[in-house]
Amino acid sequence: MKKFISKCEEDTLKIGKDFASNLLGGEIITLEGDLGAGKTVFTKGVALGLKIEDIVTSPTFTIMNMYLGEKLNLYHFDMYRLNDESELKRIRF
Ligand SMILES: Nc1ncnc2c1ncn2[C@@H]1O[C@H](COP(=O)(O)OP(=O)(O)OP(=O)(O)O)[C@@H](O)[C@H]1O
Ligand SMILES: [Mg+2]
Repeated sequence: MKKFISKCEEDTLKIGKDFASNLLGGEIITLEGDLGAGKTVFTKGVALGLKIEDIVTSPTFTIMNMYLGEKLNLYHFDMYRLNDESELKRIRF
């Protein structure tokens, strides 16, 4: 397992951006961490790497944010907010 240490927001953005360069499409990436741990910052980096220009925000209220990229699309979910998988149907996923 590879380990990356981030000392600031910019490090996490870069880690996310580099990570995105290895994506082929169809991957499910799970992010675990407390509030403010940097999950959304990492996702912003992934979006940068996918050449997505939209502003990436936390899907706290929307449950899912979708971003269309040049080659790959990015679907960012806040699974923590779901009680069970049937709730995904409500957002038509
Ligand atoms: N090394 C770091 N990597 C990422 N963010 C950092 C780092 N150090 C400090 N920060 C700050 O911590 C915050 C991380 O916020 P972020 O929204 O990414 O957290 P989150 O894990 O998505 O939280 P939530 O569960 O509330 O959505 C930002 O304000 C960022 O500037
Ligand atoms: Mg977040």
